[in-house]
Amino acid sequence: MPVTILVGVQWGDEGKGKIIDVLTKDAEMVVRFQGGNNAGHTVEIGDEKYVLHLIPSGILRGADCVIGNGLVVDPIALMEEMKDIETRKADVSVIQLSTKAHLIMPYHKLMDALKENRRSEGKKIGTTKRGIGPAYSDKAARSGIRALELLDMKAFEALFREQAEIYNQIFKNADFELMDIDAEWAKLEVAAKYLNPFVKDTVLTVNKAVKKGKNILFEGAQGGLLDIDHGTYPFVTSSNTTSGGACAGAGLSPRHVDSVYGVMKAYTTRVGEGPFPTELANEAGERLRQAGHEFGATTGRPRRCGWFDAVSSRYSCLINGVDNLAITKLDVLDDQPELKICVAYEIDGVRTEDMPCDSKALVKLTPIYETMPGWECDSTSARHFNDLPENAQKYLKRIAELVDANIGIISVGPKREQTFNV
Ligand code: IMP
Repeated sequence: MPVTILVGVQWGDEGKGKIIDVLTKDAEMVVRFQGGNNAGHTVEIGDEKYVLHLIPSGILRGADCVIGNGLVVDPIALMEEMKDIETRKADVSVIQLSTKAHLIMPYHKLMDALKENRRSEGKKIGTTKRGIGPAYSDKAARSGIRALELLDMKAFEALFREQAEIYNQIFKNADFELMDIDAEWAKLEVAAKYLNPFVKDTVLTVNKAVKKGKNILFEGAQGGLLDIDHGTYPFVTSSNTTSGGACAGAGLSPRHVDSVYGVMKAYTTRVGEGPFPTELANEAGERLRQAGHEFGATTGRPRRCGWFDAVSSRYSCLINGVDNLAITKLDVLDDQPELKICVAYEIDGVRTEDMPCDSKALVKLTPIYETMPGWECDSTSARHFNDLPENAQKYLKRIAELVDANIGIISVGPKREQTFNV
């Protein structure tokens, strides 16, 4: 390992949870560095299915779990998730929450809903309504509340009430629902007391572990194309989902990073609004959705499905510095007689292999496809690259070549054992 960053290279939902779980067998510490409970990482162990939103997936293997400074954390959601996983025999004492992580307050969730409701058709982002954007806005505006405040209940209450009053005034002016501040505080107080012992200076924790040469996995959420700077703005999330985000979001020097894993599906999905050049908004897309069970782990929304887009994935691998790929859900393509790969875009009659920065261009472009024969047989029992049908091997090699990275891991089903190194 020793310091590995794992990120999604598409629009999220690449199957990171499963790959993290597999890699965590060798990790002593797993660190989340951005996002919040907009994420939903699914891990299946035997007949048990776990969906983790804030807790690093390392919890299922007993690794030390760090929720870094780059996250926005809903204290009530975190408490509930911890209590839930405790009932499933996981040891939550391995969790540390950064003093510097910002807190998602009830008014952030209301503000998320207010903004999304007021966006006109075509401008909606389709957020998860977890308050992510408003919490990061407050962080940048320097009016956020950090986890540090959980250590001093009186100061926390005063800060919360002060901000809540300001927000209620905004909601009133917008003719929107008002918060019952006392009732919200009562819920927050319970969560604050519960989380108090877990609040730590995680920058020190992480750097001490690095110094000791421990195997550490940095667990990205969402995907590169949802990055606030590099994604399909404004249809993005509000954090740096790319590998660079791990350094700022955990207090890690780039000097210490040894490798970057990029997780991508063998096809493409997107949940929420925004451009999606290879989307199959038809029967073929519906077949992919059903075969891949493509419904959001956090919101349950149906995911939009389409062919593999090598242009956007290559760009994402570039900015993430991906050296190894983990390609997931290959088996979902088992029934396809032929497969299309988008190798370039045509914009206003001009062919390009580069990702445009303007979301408007991404909506009007025509994808240029290369077609490959499918394998039309079951791949789920493969345990080595050479077990895969020949056409599947060719397909994987082609997409890896197009995105300019090595294949490190292949996944052919939801179970731990349906994953192998290449
Ligand atoms: P937000 O992060 O809730 O503000 O949502 C912004 C955009 O990112 C929306 O299109 C969401 O659907 C998308 N998004 C946020 N989290 C995830 C995720 O974990 N997987 C996939 N899409 C996500």
